[in-house]
Formats: sequence, C-alpha cells, structure tokens
Amino acid sequence: MEYTLVNKLEKEGDLSDSELKTLLETDEYDKALFESADRVRRARYGDAVYIRGLIEFTNYCKNNCYYCGIRRDNRCAERYRLTKEHILACCREGYALGFRTFVLQGGEDPYFTDERVCEIVSAIREAYPDCAITLSIGEKSKESYEKYFKAGANRYLLRHETANDAHYRTLHPAELSPEERKSCLYALKEIGYQVGSGFMVGSPGQTTENLIEDLRFLQKLSPDMIGIGPYITHAQTPFANEKSGTLEMTLRLVAVLRLMFPWALLPSTTALGTIHPEGRELGLKAGANVVMPNLSPSDVRALYTLYDNKIHSGAEAAQSVNDLRTRVQNAGYRVVVDAGHVKR
Ligand code: 5AD
Repeated sequence: MEYTLVNKLEKEGDLSDSELKTLLETDEYDKALFESADRVRRARYGDAVYIRGLIEFTNYCKNNCYYCGIRRDNRCAERYRLTKEHILACCREGYALGFRTFVLQGGEDPYFTDERVCEIVSAIREAYPDCAITLSIGEKSKESYEKYFKAGANRYLLRHETANDAHYRTLHPAELSPEERKSCLYALKEIGYQVGSGFMVGSPGQTTENLIEDLRFLQKLSPDMIGIGPYITHAQTPFANEKSGTLEMTLRLVAVLRLMFPWALLPSTTALGTIHPEGRELGLKAGANVVMPNLSPSDVRALYTLYDNKIHSGAEAAQSVNDLRTRVQNAGYRVVVDAGHVKR
C-alpha cells in the first residue's frame, strides 16, 4: 500500500508545515483522514463521548471582538444574568441527568467580580464534590485565576482564537492583545488547571499558514482540551458581510487535531452543529469525543447569540439530553456518565 500523508500523520503524530498545507488544502485525503482519526480516537477512548453541562450564565461583555454577537457595542443584544440560585438549579438538574462536569461560560461581565465568581464556584464545589467545575469567563489576572482555583474550579476554557499576532489584531480591538491572551493560558496551566484552548475555523482573513501556526501553538501549550468550530457571521457585528467558515475545513481540522493530539478532549461544538444539521455527529466521526449540551434555562438560551442561527432547543434539558444520547448512538458512539478526564 502507498504510504500517504495520513499514514505518516497517524504514525508520527506530526507533519512538516508544507505537508500540513497539502493536507489542509485538498479534500482528497478527507475520507482516509477521518477513518484514521476515528481509529486513533477509538484506540485511546473507545466509543465514549463525554458530556459537559454548559451553563451560559451571562451575556454581558465588556469586550468588543469584531466577530462576536455579544460584543459590547451590539445594542440589539438583549442582556441577561443568571443568579447563583439559578446556576445551582441548572447544576442540580444536570447532575440528575448524568452530568459530572459543569461549564460556567459567560461574557467578560464586570458584575461577576472575583468574590461573586468564587461564591458561585464554592457553592457548586460543596454540593458536587465528585464533579469537575470548568470556568470559561475570559481573560483575568493570575491572582483571580488562583482565587477561582482555590474556590474549587479545576478546568478553564480560553480559546486562543488565532495564534498569529497580526491576524489576532485584525479580529480584536486594540485593547486586546495576543500576548495577553497567551500569557493567560500559560498562567492557567501553571496554577494547575486542566486547560482548554482552540480557535475558529474560517475567521475573516485566516490563511492555511495561520491554521498551521494554530497547530504549532497548541503543540507548545499542550492543552487538555481543544475546542474548534467554524466562524459563523453575526449580522450585528463589524464582520456582518464576511463569509462563514465551512463544515469541510472544520472537520478536516478536527481529524488533524485527533492525530496530532491523540490524548486530547475534542468537543464537537455547537457551531459545528449550527452550520450543518448533522455537524456534531460528523465531528464525532472525525475524531471528536466531547459534546457540551446547554443546561441554561430555556428562556435565556436564545439570548446567548455568539453568531447567527446558533442552535438551541426550547426543550427542557432532560428532553435535549435524551435526543443527544440517541444522536450519539446513531453516530456509533456512547454517552458516558463520568467527569471524563484526559488520557495522556
Ligand atoms: N462564530 C463562531 N464562533 C464564535 N465565537 C465567538 N463568536 C463567534 C462566531 N461569530 C467563539 C469564540 C469564543 C467562543 C466562546 O465562541 O471562539 O472563544
């Protein structure tokens, strides 16, 4: 048999930049690539799919990222915050449904001071000592990250968005810097968090070279989780007229990530499910092994609109989890009740 780039990537877990470029710029390898990624995922994780209960607890944000629907200057966004009691109620429901990881995600909302964040985290930690608590609340000082960790948070998600500095500056206003973003990620690792990073696929101005830089940055950072999804245009942002990323490119990158980071927790993201009705199933078949269903109250789910047409169901969490189990099974995998730790 001919020894292909995919064989090499599967065997060595790496390729040269020019080989990666070839792999990423054609659909020629896709079938072999997805099969290889699924093989590597099954060897490490079997057919397990880990579920994370996502609680989107505030859509207020002080930042003004050009791509994001909950950016500060989007006056059309209807803003909401959940109370501590509301958040705890989401956890209670999630626990009963089999979730053992809660992800508190929100905009960078100054209302949630360190004190308030710690109060919420401590309350969840006390009620659910067997669960992982993940925060995804953006850039903070190392001192703040330390406080949350002491309060009981043990995982943190912060996508680097793009590893190329010049590209980063075209996606964000001047007050946000790629250096700060990266230094937050290294601080989180030092403190002892299990860290998730990642990037958008097909964001405005992104080149194949940028994507290769993303892979190289991730090799340096070596995060436990890598979340990627297609960039999807939001009409009330400065990028309203830009094109969205594609299903094909995102799946190709999920598969490449599985082969380069065999141990990684790779979510099949909401954005992937938004650009294609079976996007999340296809993500699982391309090497992803995590899904993050929404545990937020159904009346606020529609308001966390990072991008247009973001999928959310009006259904109760219980109903959605049942649908998810069926979808995962139909794709050939199995949802497990487990905090789902990384297998390095
Ligand atoms: N399209 C896709 N993903 C987006 N995010 C923010 N805005 C968009 C968009 N328009 C992603 C970012 C962020 C995560 C919470 O959502 O990568 O880190």
